[in-house]
Amino acid sequence: MKTMENVGLKEVQNVYSGPEGELWELIMGEQIHIGGFASSMDLAQKAGIGSGLTGVDLCCCNGAGMRFLVRFRDVARMRGVDATEKVLERGRRRCEQEGMSERIEFKLADVCDSGLAGASADFVWGEDAWCYVVDKSRLISEAVRIVKPGGTIAFTDWIEAKAGLTDAEAERFLTFMKFPNIQTIEGYSDLLATNDCDLVMAEQTGRFAPHVDLYLNMLNMQLTYDALKIIGFNTELMQAMGAEMVFMQALAHTGKIAQGLFVARKKG
Ligand SMILES: C[S@@+](CC[C@H](N)C(=O)[O-])C[C@H]1O[C@@H](n2cnc3c(N)ncnc32)[C@H](O)[C@@H]1O
Repeated sequence: MKTMENVGLKEVQNVYSGPEGELWELIMGEQIHIGGFASSMDLAQKAGIGSGLTGVDLCCCNGAGMRFLVRFRDVARMRGVDATEKVLERGRRRCEQEGMSERIEFKLADVCDSGLAGASADFVWGEDAWCYVVDKSRLISEAVRIVKPGGTIAFTDWIEAKAGLTDAEAERFLTFMKFPNIQTIEGYSDLLATNDCDLVMAEQTGRFAPHVDLYLNMLNMQLTYDALKIIGFNTELMQAMGAEMVFMQALAHTGKIAQGLFVARKKG
C-alpha cells in the first residue's frame, strides 16, 4: 500500500469544511463519488441491499448516499458517521428538507472509533471515502464489528490499480487528493478476510477514467466561473488544480488508479 506521511484527519476535515469540498460537490453533485446514482445502485444491487434493512454509512459526508438508500432501496433506517461537522450540518438540513430525518441520523466521530454498538446493523456502506482514512485496518475491523453476523460490508473506493503507481506518481496524487494512503483490490480483500469476512466480490468498476474526463470537461466547458467563484477567483490556483486533475486523468487512463467495488459477508 502506497503511503504519505503528514496527511491525516485534520487535513481531510479542512478539505470538507472549506472550498475544496465545495468544488467536489460542484463537479460531482450531492453524491460525492464517481458515478453518482448509477454507482450507488450498482453497489446496492450487487450487495443485496434492500427493503427493511438497517445500515451504517461510514464517511457519510452530507448523507446523500443514505438518502439514496432510503428513497430508492427502501432501507428502513440509516446511521451516518463522519468526522467533519460542517458536512453533517448540511446533511441534517437536507434530510429535514426531504422529510427523511426520522429514518436517517448522523454522528460526529472518527470512523475508526465510531462509538456505535456492535452487531447493530444489517450492513455497513461506504462510497469513495475510505481512501481518506489513515488506518485502513482499524476501519475494516470497526465496520465488521458494527455489522451483525451474516451482515454485509459494501463499499466502493479509490484504489491503486493493476498497472501500479511509481513512488513519485503516488506522492503527487496522494498529496493533491489529501489521501494518507491508497489500498489495492488485494489489500482490502486481505483485510476483509482477516476480519472474519467471506469476500463476495472485489472488482474494478471501469468508471474512473470516463468520469475524470467528464469532470474536466465540465470544469473547462461549463462550470469555470462557478469553480473560480468558490476559490475566490484565483485563476492561478485554478490552473494548478486543473493540472493535477489532468495528471489524475492520465493515471486513470493508463490503469494505475481505479474505483474498486467490494462486497463481503461477516461470518455468522
Ligand atoms: C468523498 S466524501 C464522502 C462522500 C460520500 N460517501 C458520498 O458518496 O457522497 C469523504 C468524507 O469522508 C470523511 N472522512 C474522512 N476521514 C474520516 C474519518 N477518519 N472519520 C470520519 N469521517 C472521515 C470526510 O469528512 C468527508 O465527509
